[in-house]
Amino acid sequence: MSEITTKYLVVGGGIAGVTCVETLSILHPEEKLVVITASSLVKNVSNVKFYAKTIVKFDVKDTEASSLLRIHPNLEIIYDSLKYLNTKNKIAATEEGTVIKYDVVCICTGGIPKLISDSNKCQRILGIRDTESVKEFQDKLKNGRKMLIVGNGGIASEIVHATKGIQKVWVVRDDYISATFVDPGAAEFFQESFKKKSKDQSDTTTIRRHIFTEEDTVVSINKNLKSAALGPDWYRKLENKKSESGEHELEIIYKVEVESVVETENKEYALEVKLTNGKTIECDFVISATGVEPAVNFSWDQLPRRGDDGGLAVNELQETSIKDVFAAGDVACASWQHSPHWFQLRLWTQARQMGAMAAKAMHARIINEDVSQDFCFELFTHCTSLFGYRVVLLGKYNGQGLGDYNILLRTTPNEEYIKCVQKDGKLQGVILIGETGVEEMCENLILNQTVLTPFGDDLLNPDIDIEDFFD
Ligand SMILES: Cc1cc2nc3c(=O)[nH]c(=O)nc-3n(C[C@H](O)[C@H](O)[C@H](O)COP(=O)(O)OP(=O)(O)OC[C@H]3O[C@@H](n4cnc5c(N)ncnc54)[C@H](O)[C@@H]3O)c2cc1C
Ligand SMILES: *[C@@H]1O[C@H](CO)[C@@H](O)[C@H](O)[C@H]1NC(C)=O
Ligand SMILES: *[C@@H]1O[C@H](CO)[C@@H](O)[C@H](O)[C@H]1NC(C)=O
Ligand SMILES: *[C@@H]1O[C@H](CO)[C@@H](O)[C@H](O)[C@H]1NC(C)=O
Repeated sequence: MSEITTKYLVVGGGIAGVTCVETLSILHPEEKLVVITASSLVKNVSNVKFYAKTIVKFDVKDTEASSLLRIHPNLEIIYDSLKYLNTKNKIAATEEGTVIKYDVVCICTGGIPKLISDSNKCQRILGIRDTESVKEFQDKLKNGRKMLIVGNGGIASEIVHATKGIQKVWVVRDDYISATFVDPGAAEFFQESFKKKSKDQSDTTTIRRHIFTEEDTVVSINKNLKSAALGPDWYRKLENKKSESGEHELEIIYKVEVESVVETENKEYALEVKLTNGKTIECDFVISATGVEPAVNFSWDQLPRRGDDGGLAVNELQETSIKDVFAAGDVACASWQHSPHWFQLRLWTQARQMGAMAAKAMHARIINEDVSQDFCFELFTHCTSLFGYRVVLLGKYNGQGLGDYNILLRTTPNEEYIKCVQKDGKLQGVILIGETGVEEMCENLILNQTVLTPFGDDLLNPDIDIEDFFD
């Protein structure tokens, strides 16, 4: 049993933990820092690109934890997992008995997949954590012929999209597929792009104005804040491929849940899945992509406050209800008063922003200074690519919680899709697909709440440069 004393302690080697370590290596390299990581691989953020002040794109890769030693001269890595946190005496104990005395600690233990029951005993029920594991699955699935996918979100969509050459049955609890990042208009754009410039229409730019209310079924069947819901058919259109045997590769079953999974012997398939509609499906694998829940698998001397979603409630400086205990990333629940154009979505971007914010606040505590919340929490941003296109989401990009709002759309098939969400003549959010070049303008218009009524539909007129109006 060893004993270690440190000023800073970080738990977890995901994006939040690694960013916290990186930021502390800039702010306070001369001070001792200990990181506890359960896995020898940690996340590495690279190719950071700024599209605007708050809009950042980057790649995420796995890397050896030891690479962190290169950036922080006083770092010690403990390959172990946290077992017990004594917050009154500021002592952390690991599974294997290492005891660490700290001044400030940041919990970055992420989330664990919510698995359907029965999954612990069965190796053929796979939980999905991130895009890396999606790739792993593809290897595993090579010797399978049929799989069943459970889940209604973007992750399930991604698996369905990323797997080829295997029969798929997709079980969805609701009567729609909710892809977090795509609205029906964008889905249509992608569908068109698959048809690839078929009718020589690639140069037509269309601008349309719609008035939507929250009751509008086209935009939001699911009034849940986080996601736009897509009608049952769009995905079928996207995935309307046939396997070699001529059968459709994908079958979607709506409004059912998995009741039980039984391993069978001497049958054609290894698993028998009973659904709540009485149907039984035979398959080789079940993939459970029903989301993550905050991972707090260690014990405490006193329990911190939890947020509505079970995450550790943190204030605008990422501090939990227990002094000197900070939390960042998927494990945290953003429990401060949010700015009008920000909301929490458990994504790389926010894990990184929270990890950096926690580091700044921990450093300020140690050197006894004040710090304020970072500017990035003023605006929700997410950059990703879908089907080979750049996708940038800003603010209330799906009209989340806005009540009645306007949408102004501009699409050029195979090139770009721009959706502006406006309320009271001001921009509240956008979806930008393709190389639109308007990221920074939109960021400014949302942050400044510039009154746009004078421009009308010209806001998206490709022949008029709106930015000229502001110079
Ligand atoms: C299938 C899937 C696909 C996704 N795709 C995207 C995407 O394309 N873009 C995007 O932005 N976001 C995506 N996300 C979300 C994104 O992965 C998370 O928001 C982000 O990784 C959270 O980072 P984190 O550092 O908080 O936690 P994690 O990355 O979960 O890291 C937590 C770490 O802590 C360790 N740990 C846990 N408990 C302990 C303990 N007791 N002691 C020591 N260590 C511990 C874990 O082993 C883990 O290494 C996806 C999520 C899923 C599930
Ligand atoms: C907690 O989670 C980590 C990382 O997933 C794991 O290594 C560790 O064994 C878990 N601890 C317990 C007590 O389950
Ligand atoms: C991440 O990878 C990049 C490029 O490979 C490297 O320059 C950087 O130092 C790495 N960061 C960490 C924290 O290991
Ligand atoms: C918004 O405000 C910023 C900073 O005050 C300014 O630089 C920018 O030009 C403004 N943009 C618009 C579109 O009003």
